Amino acid sequence: MADSYKIEFQAHGSVETGDLIVFVGENLKPTPAVAKQIGSKAVDLIAKAAAAESFKGKAKSSMAILVPAGLSVDRLIVIGVGGEKDKAEMDWVQLGGLIAGKANGKTATAVLDLPGTEVTPDAVADIALGVQLRRYKFDRYKTKKDNDEKKNRAGRLLLSVADPAAVKKVYKAREGVLQGVVLARDLVNEPPNVLGPVEFAAKAEALTKLGVEVEILDEKAMRKLGMNALLGVAQGSVRGARVAVMRWNGGKAADKPVAFIGKGVVFDSGGISIKPGAGMEDMKGDMAGAACVVGLMHALASRKAKANVVGAIGLVENMPDGNAQRPGDIVTTMSGQTIEIINTDAEGRLVLADVLWYIQDRFKPKFMIDLATLTGAILVALAQEYAGLFSNNDELSDRLTAAGKATGERVWRMPLGPEFDKMIDSKFADMKNSAGRHGGSSTAAALLQRFVNDVPWAHLDIAGTAMGSPHNEINKGWSSGWGVRLLDRLVRDHYEG
Ligand code: BES
Ligand code: MN
Ligand code: ZN
Repeated sequence: MADSYKIEFQAHGSVETGDLIVFVGENLKPTPAVAKQIGSKAVDLIAKAAAAESFKGKAKSSMAILVPAGLSVDRLIVIGVGGEKDKAEMDWVQLGGLIAGKANGKTATAVLDLPGTEVTPDAVADIALGVQLRRYKFDRYKTKKDNDEKKNRAGRLLLSVADPAAVKKVYKAREGVLQGVVLARDLVNEPPNVLGPVEFAAKAEALTKLGVEVEILDEKAMRKLGMNALLGVAQGSVRGARVAVMRWNGGKAADKPVAFIGKGVVFDSGGISIKPGAGMEDMKGDMAGAACVVGLMHALASRKAKANVVGAIGLVENMPDGNAQRPGDIVTTMSGQTIEIINTDAEGRLVLADVLWYIQDRFKPKFMIDLATLTGAILVALAQEYAGLFSNNDELSDRLTAAGKATGERVWRMPLGPEFDKMIDSKFADMKNSAGRHGGSSTAAALLQRFVNDVPWAHLDIAGTAMGSPHNEINKGWSSGWGVRLLDRLVRDHYEG
């Protein structure tokens, strides 16, 4: 990440030169401790400036007072925390993003003493996480960087807190999650000429330095296992296919693992059923599911999660070619079930069919969750607000929904069932890989379900949430790193210890 802030935690009291950031409620008053620190003149100044600026202390609003008289800082930045309801629903990560946006890379001190709400060490760690996510920038391929940015890069952000030692401990774990999100974002942003299946597999392999066991299956190994659905997608590309299996064993030896599976189509041209040209460059992001799984494994291993976790990603490139798979082809999957190819652009489900089958067969996991930029139809249903959640298990589904609410990476449950399953029956094979436009996300999920063998399973369709992301307080880039925080939270809340 190019622009990470140098964050330091310090006890309340001292203020660096640069900017000073304080928080007020709707009465425009900072807490007594902050008032004491900045002095009564500064408190009056805030009230006056607020009147002049029509600043009402509403949640997420802010004002800046330049060279405030009596204070030795450049700017006094006042951020509103709103009323009771806003405080109860405070999203600390988003607040961190807001702070970083206001300080904009300059040296600043934020006094994390908020009126009417306790800022626990956990909350501070989330704020710091939000700060760094906001600073993320993918500019590896820009040869000219603007000067302002260079200047601001030296900035330090001091977070003034009640108990710095307690915060540092919690933040250490949160930094692992941060790095995981950053890794996922980087992978999705990388251009497809740089990141092919082999290069991607090497990124997974790099997790060995964190104590993750990594195995790479090449095409020969996959052929032997009978992964012909996955291989069929790859056969139009000059670049080989890979499956990476990552294992983090932080739990008890006897504990069955939980498993995360990612779609890793490094570029999806559509194949012979080629996509229209406009926007096709976005299909470099068709490996966002795999990127999330690698980012998640990084997060869990860095923070030494007390859980046994398997991560598996299917890496292929979908290209048109003389040797490419055709509509009409029938492939035999590792499970033995056959699939008629109707549309070579419905390739993600073919990749996942073999990886899902392989993982349940080999590891008998407690559950499997797959992530895939699987269908354009999920964007029609849920825009970029929610990922589509499909599951054969209510408990897993509820837990994911709760983790979504807690992290802001929200999921919305969508239907599966015999009606959708029937729609993918084929004239010539056991099933077909496309049933047309109607219910496109559900029929895609129905195909995946035929490969999970009754293991508790959830499928997250992240075509809308992982890339081309609408900018918000914690993301100003193209890829969001969606899912790393969600799944880290799921593991933390239910599957550790
Ligand atoms: N990778 C695409 C889905 C996608 C669309 C991801 C937009 C991100 C943004 C997937 O492989 C695909 O092409 N799906 C087809 C399926 C259809 C041919 C049945 C689709 O959604 O149109
Ligand atoms: Mn496709
Ligand atoms: Zn795709």
